[in-house]
Amino acid sequence: MGDQSTGEAAGGAPAEPSRALSIVAICGSLRRGSFNAALLRTALELAPADLEFDRYDGLRAIPPFDDDVRQQGLPDAVADLAARIDRTDGVLIATPEYNFGLPGVLKNALDWVSCAGESPYASPLRHKAVGMMGASAGLMGTVRAQQGLRALCHFTDSQPMLRPEVFVQKAWERFDGDGRLVDEPTRALVETFMTAFRDFVSWRLEVGPPPAAPVSFVASPAAS
Ligand SMILES: Cc1cc2nc3c(=O)[nH]c(=O)nc-3n(C[C@H](O)[C@H](O)[C@H](O)COP(=O)(O)O)c2cc1C
Repeated sequence: MGDQSTGEAAGGAPAEPSRALSIVAICGSLRRGSFNAALLRTALELAPADLEFDRYDGLRAIPPFDDDVRQQGLPDAVADLAARIDRTDGVLIATPEYNFGLPGVLKNALDWVSCAGESPYASPLRHKAVGMMGASAGLMGTVRAQQGLRALCHFTDSQPMLRPEVFVQKAWERFDGDGRLVDEPTRALVETFMTAFRDFVSWRLEVGPPPAAPVSFVASPAAS
């Protein structure tokens, strides 16, 4: 427990943070009129007052990942995103699903950030609390994209919040023409999610990073 402590309530109830928690908010869609951008906007509106958001809008400027380029030094746009993630308490992502996976632009940016530290195991994403949600046209509401994001968090040793989940299916039925989330049950779910995410980030800071564990390797037979 260090100076990031947020206080502990009696009886194990979620503590009221003693300071505002900072969150980078990233939308995985570049589209004007994106449902995910609208979902993220709504999440920020419905969030507890003690969350402060750094709304990231720079995905378009992130170059395609190239490890040769990385070894020459991080491109400015990547360094900017990495620094913003590094200095905040958590990352909130609203993402579409493309072809059953994460959008390329989002995956590309996170691939960069995953190696923005001294090693892939020391990136700004390591031990970082991650919240995710998504809206899609389909019936699965980005289930598969979010599974992909959880897998990425596994490699980066991030701390994704597993529940509650927000899968906004048939998005066109839930937003009005001005991009307002008008479906009340979905709004209620988003509000619940944001309160849970605040508590999760606060708890993560309270308990600190998990005990050091060796990087996993698959054992293979020794060459004879
Ligand atoms: C290339 C492409 C692939 C897509 N693949 C999926 C998919 O796998 N699952 C899904 O539910 N919707 C898929 N969609 C539809 C998106 O859910 C829909 O376009 C959504 O509005 C995108 O999010 P946005 O509104 O935030 O841009 C796809 C759309 C595109 C353009």
